[in-house]
Amino acid sequence: MKLCRVTFIGGGNMALALAAGIRSAQPEARIHVVEPWVEQHGRWSSLADAIGIASDRALVSGSDVIVLAVKPQVMAEACAALAPHLTGELILSVAAGSPIRRISAWLNGHTRIVRSMPNTPALIGKGMSGFYAPPTVSAEDTALAASLLAACGDVLQVAEESTLDAVTAVSGSGPAYVFHWIESLTRAAEAVGFGPEEAKQLVMKTLRGALCLAEQSSDPPAILRERVTSKGGTTAAALAVLAERGVTDAYIAAVEAARCRAEELGRADD
Ligand SMILES: NC(=O)c1ccc[n+]([C@@H]2O[C@H](COP(=O)([O-])OP(=O)(O)OC[C@H]3O[C@@H](n4cnc5c(N)ncnc54)[C@H](OP(=O)(O)O)[C@@H]3O)[C@@H](O)[C@H]2O)c1
Repeated sequence: MKLCRVTFIGGGNMALALAAGIRSAQPEARIHVVEPWVEQHGRWSSLADAIGIASDRALVSGSDVIVLAVKPQVMAEACAALAPHLTGELILSVAAGSPIRRISAWLNGHTRIVRSMPNTPALIGKGMSGFYAPPTVSAEDTALAASLLAACGDVLQVAEESTLDAVTAVSGSGPAYVFHWIESLTRAAEAVGFGPEEAKQLVMKTLRGALCLAEQSSDPPAILRERVTSKGGTTAAALAVLAERGVTDAYIAAVEAARCRAEELGRADD
């Protein structure tokens, strides 16, 4: 969808990633930024058409979308500064842990709000964002928010706001699970005699190759796994240990713990 003007409240990493995606997809879109830290302004020199240290009418009003991209702990303050300048614009929050009802209250009852949960690979254009648009938001606004998020990766719309807690637990926290897996297999490679560089090469290239194979194959991962697991062979010996130690159950419990924590954080100030 065509964007004429987008304003970012918060000019940090997530805002820069989204703005870079918008700039390459829609070079004619105007990008405005509210960023109190002047030292940060230099990072915007090739992206922003206007930048200021505080929300004001010229930066904010008339935007197709205003993106809330501040840390959750300053969200109330940023919304309070924004609220007097709103003239009904669509708001897209990318902040973790702030429910729509709370953002709406901070914005004096504004209802045109979409909430999303991106993840850190968005910073290199390979993000996975979940988003929720309440029934009060039009189909056109929903498409606008989705197209903006698609500027830095893949997008999944969820039907309930509470499902964003599950998105947070799977894809929001997900990169950390993958980094943990890399750390674990690297330690295992070093334990069987490889130096750090060799271990890194073996692990990273295996991860990349297996990921590409899984993405390109029409077979599910279970079939791909069975193909490298001959009966009584080496992979079977390794997988038996993982099964015995309950690795799959540990992942299920870990994701549920993250989902519960996201739910708790969303209720924190109620
Ligand atoms: N990075 C990710 O991959 C990722 C993933 C999922 C969700 N998110 C969410 O996205 C949001 C932004 O994250 P980020 O990584 O982009 O954080 P960040 O790099 O710290 O950016 C936030 C920016 O907002 C500025 N700011 C602070 N108070 C403000 C105010 N009152 N008005 C306007 N701007 C203000 C901050 O300036 P100062 O430095 O001066 O405080 C900072 O430059 C967070 O809520 C985070 O949970 C990020």
